[in-house]
Amino acid sequence: MSDQKTDPFYITTPIYYVNGEPHIGHAYTSVAVDTMARWHRMLGRDTYFLTGTDEHGQKIEKSAREAGIAPIEQANRFSAPFRALTDLLDLSNDDFIRTTEARHQSVVQDVWRRMVAAGDIYSDTYAGWYSVGDEAYFTEDEVVDGKAPSGHTVEWMEEQSFFFRLSKYGPALLQHLEDNPEFVRPKTRYNEIKRFIESGLNDISISRSAFDWGIPVPQTDAGEGAGHVIYVWVDALSNYISALGGPDGDKFGKFWPSAVHVIGKDILRFHAVYWPCFLMSAGLPLPQQIYAHGWWTHDSVKMSKTLGNVVDPVEMVAKYGADPFRYFLLREITFGTDGDFSERALQSRYHGDLANNYGNLANRTLGMLGRYHAGKVPTRGEGAEIDDALRATVTAARADMISAMERFAFQKALAAIWTVADAGNKYIAETTPWVLAKQGNQARLDEVLYTLCETLRILGVWTQPFLPNKAPALLGQLNVPADALSFESTAEWGGFASGTQTNPPEALFPRLDLKKAADKAPKPPKQKKKKTPKEAPVTEKTAETTETAAEAPAEKPSYIQFEDFTKVELRSAKIVAAEPHPNADRLLKLTVDAGEENHRTVCAGIAAAYKPEELVGKTVILVANLKPRKLRGVMSEGMLLAGGEGENVHLTTLPGDLPPGTQIT
Ligand code: ME8
Ligand code: MG
Repeated sequence: MSDQKTDPFYITTPIYYVNGEPHIGHAYTSVAVDTMARWHRMLGRDTYFLTGTDEHGQKIEKSAREAGIAPIEQANRFSAPFRALTDLLDLSNDDFIRTTEARHQSVVQDVWRRMVAAGDIYSDTYAGWYSVGDEAYFTEDEVVDGKAPSGHTVEWMEEQSFFFRLSKYGPALLQHLEDNPEFVRPKTRYNEIKRFIESGLNDISISRSAFDWGIPVPQTDAGEGAGHVIYVWVDALSNYISALGGPDGDKFGKFWPSAVHVIGKDILRFHAVYWPCFLMSAGLPLPQQIYAHGWWTHDSVKMSKTLGNVVDPVEMVAKYGADPFRYFLLREITFGTDGDFSERALQSRYHGDLANNYGNLANRTLGMLGRYHAGKVPTRGEGAEIDDALRATVTAARADMISAMERFAFQKALAAIWTVADAGNKYIAETTPWVLAKQGNQARLDEVLYTLCETLRILGVWTQPFLPNKAPALLGQLNVPADALSFESTAEWGGFASGTQTNPPEALFPRLDLKKAADKAPKPPKQKKKKTPKEAPVTEKTAETTETAAEAPAEKPSYIQFEDFTKVELRSAKIVAAEPHPNADRLLKLTVDAGEENHRTVCAGIAAAYKPEELVGKTVILVANLKPRKLRGVMSEGMLLAGGEGENVHLTTLPGDLPPGTQIT
């Protein structure tokens, strides 16, 4: 059965406010949308991916005023880094819209006129709370201690303005939700929105006259509307259709019905309630789906400019590269729920998943192919049972990946793909191609190498939406022909043409120079002590002194950084031979299989506790990247973990069925 699709697909990010630099949250939504767009393109769909910036309204006007510049200057200054981020993160967006562009303004005014024609706009006086930070109105109940639920301060506002009959559309919107249970995702958000509509919708004010940084309300013949600008959310939401050329544009008919809006949960109500009602009023069809994802915190703290703990995507990409950063964002947390960013976790994903697993499989496979088959993909053979097992893993992973991507479950999709990387590395450890080479068993060696090449090709193809640089780099090293790059080409085993001349391997994820990276990193933020009015006033100085005194440990513990730990490569190894050391009674000379081409010699100070013959067959933990050194004339290539001393020393052992070379973390 073919998974290929041909129907159009339209996917959008929110358009971001130009009141500051992009941060990890913006990067997150954009990376998720880009990955989804690439995935749908890979399935064959004609895909349109839109992102951009939201540049009007009081929030931007205020930022500009504070910076002492004109609003348009403010917009230009901060739209630029969002556009730069699309390059930095390798986003494949087809368009980047700015709400200050003429093509957008005319569509917004058209939407307004359509709503007027529907009889849905009337003049009244608004009196209530407004949060400039959210660009939103709040009811008395929602405001607590002068703050909106978001934490932004609210101000009392009273002005004559135009209202939109939101209340009129409640029943129709509820019906739409009933008929389209997938309209809002995940399910919890769907329920939340349904409850909100059921509680009754109130009409909303949709024009402002206290400032003029916005799109003018189109004037009627009677001159009504003069001096009003359109409420920024009517303006902003319309970007999704203005980028398609508006209701009469050629792209509109093609893409609009398939639209998926991906947003953060903070702006769900605007997208799942206001926007559909505006569209119904304007006589336009509704988008397919609104997907609201969760919220990132940083080391368990909410990110904010005042705390100075905002994660800068530019810095992360500079330190780790775009692909590892992208991988981390989608692998670390479930899309739809909140998550916590920690740089350690990112480093651990880099080393564990990317360098030591995916990268290692590529490196070993291409290395062996070079040594044993002149870098040429061999002929595919009959295969053994162990090959079938690997193929079964691939088949299962492919099905899992498809169903995960249908549900925006990026994390599950990546987990499924990585079962294949795990299985590939295990397959090398179990088939020991270097032994086959020594034995001169070329027929079996060819089969094994083919299986590995095809596995690697499949991994390369599947990771294209996630790793838009590294996946093509891998496929380039493999020299996979253009017709074997589609997702469809992985539906059947064996798409990699025998005889393809591959290139020598190059490390896809080189070991991080974290010392250098740490030097480049900005200093950690100073924790500001929160002052609450009830507390006795303390000066900064006293607050600091007390804190230090209370928390200062008697002695400084000599912690190592997590990155120091990740530098140690621990691997399982099987002891295949053991003998007394020729020059030292304390030492045994062991030969271990660490899943590599050649066995290693390791000298261990355990002669008082173990007889050589009782060690053979044991699986132990090898410090695999310790610099080799001579111990009493014998070169020792690594160290084994053990506890105790002298006669009471105990080697740390692992279950025997763990294949040699398995990474220990
Ligand atoms: O709301 N975690 O723009 P905005 C996860 N202009 N995602 C986050 C995040 C975090 N900590 N912080 C931000 C606006 N985001 C309006 C949108 S759309 C017609 C108008 C992401 O700059 C998330 O997607 O405040 C959130 O919805 C969006 O950035 C808000 O960006
Ligand atoms: Mg915001």
